Amino acid sequence: MYSKKVEEHFFHPHNVGEIKDADGVGKVGNPRCGDIMKVFIKVKDDRIEDIKFKTFGCAAAIATTSVMTDLVKGKTIQEALKVTNRQIVEELGELPPIKLHCSVLAADALKAAISDYQKKKS
Ligand code: FES
Repeated sequence: MYSKKVEEHFFHPHNVGEIKDADGVGKVGNPRCGDIMKVFIKVKDDRIEDIKFKTFGCAAAIATTSVMTDLVKGKTIQEALKVTNRQIVEELGELPPIKLHCSVLAADALKAAISDYQKKKS
């Protein structure tokens, strides 16, 4: 059902955890499947210096959040905002159609963390 890369990120997810003094925190969930993602970002000079996540959900939810963190770590806020769920899926190779919404959740969790950061900053 899943590509090798999805399996890799599911069994060995990158950037798992929490940032205690995060500059932005985003929490999103999908009411239909019940999965929840929480993303923490640390920003320095407008760049995502560190990012961590906690995902309570399916294999695809964990793999997509993991690959999203790899994609945006070190990027500027503007660059990170351009990352789409399609890019996340491409990075993983593929996802079963029924699991595409998991990648949307990962992209939304990142946007929520950035939006929280921007709110706190202003
Ligand atoms: Fe809903 Fe994966 S089944 S996020």
